[in-house]
Amino acid sequence: MNLNVNQESNYNTGIYLRGLTKHYQREGVIVPALNEVTLHIARSSQVAIMGPSGCGKTTLLHTTAGILTPTAGSIRIEGQELAGMKETDLSTLRLRRFGFVFQDGQLLPELTNAENVALPLMLLGVPKKQALQKADTQLASLGLAGSGKYLPGQLSGGQAQRVAIARALVTNPQVVFADEPTGSLDQATSAEVMQVLTQATAQTGATLVVVTHDKGVASWLQHTIHMCDGKIESVVSRTSMAPSENKSTHPNTSAATPATASTANYATPYETAEKAEEN
Ligand SMILES: Nc1ncnc2c1ncn2[C@@H]1O[C@H](COP(=O)(O)OP(=O)(O)O)[C@@H](O)[C@H]1O
Ligand SMILES: [Mg+2]
Repeated sequence: MNLNVNQESNYNTGIYLRGLTKHYQREGVIVPALNEVTLHIARSSQVAIMGPSGCGKTTLLHTTAGILTPTAGSIRIEGQELAGMKETDLSTLRLRRFGFVFQDGQLLPELTNAENVALPLMLLGVPKKQALQKADTQLASLGLAGSGKYLPGQLSGGQAQRVAIARALVTNPQVVFADEPTGSLDQATSAEVMQVLTQATAQTGATLVVVTHDKGVASWLQHTIHMCDGKIESVVSRTSMAPSENKSTHPNTSAATPATASTANYATPYETAEKAEEN
């Protein structure tokens, strides 16, 4: 993580934003939402974006992910420039290289959980049977073995969000973008979802970018980018420990059962590290 980017040549991995600007037009009035954001997010890092409502968090996420076209500036992901790409190329790139988790999962209610997770693979041309098998494996790796045949409506909010995470990860994306992924969940369930999301992305090495207004959610991530009025105010990094060193084991082998565990079981790796330093 580095705000003071001087040498462009060093930023061909991870996410590199330079002078990223986005203005909306509303009823003929220009609404500046992002104002020359320059930022490097290293590959495989896990980052929170925080700031008051309306400061541009979602706009930053959506322009970085190629969902919104920037007004000006550059977005390089793993060395590839997104600004100026055709929409058809962008949509293929999003499907192949990015995973998305939204506040309310946005699962298709008439499809089974496995079909929801298999969908991105099928859109990429993977045959249905193979895609469904991979979906079931992905669900099992997130502690949802056997849930593939059910509908999203038959799950709890936290379980449904884990299905959404499975759908985001099933294509093995380079970057996972999450916008308020725990926005509709209680504290204990939020912690459970953040544990699954951070562990799973640490295992694949995907870069993880999470927009949140919740400090508890941000405490699961290595870095917090604070935004204000379309600009980055500060970047706070918690510890230099690698995620793999301070995260507990794979969800399937974790001693705590996420659905029933209390928040006390979800002291985040960074809280643990900070407490250890105090002692
Ligand atoms: N589609 C849009 N049209 C016009 N203005 C928008 C649009 N989307 C967001 N904005 C404005 O851009 C600013 C940043 O919005 P947003 O990125 O959604 O903030 P946040 O996610 O931090 O709440 C706000 O002033 C918001 O009203
Ligand atoms: Mg938002």
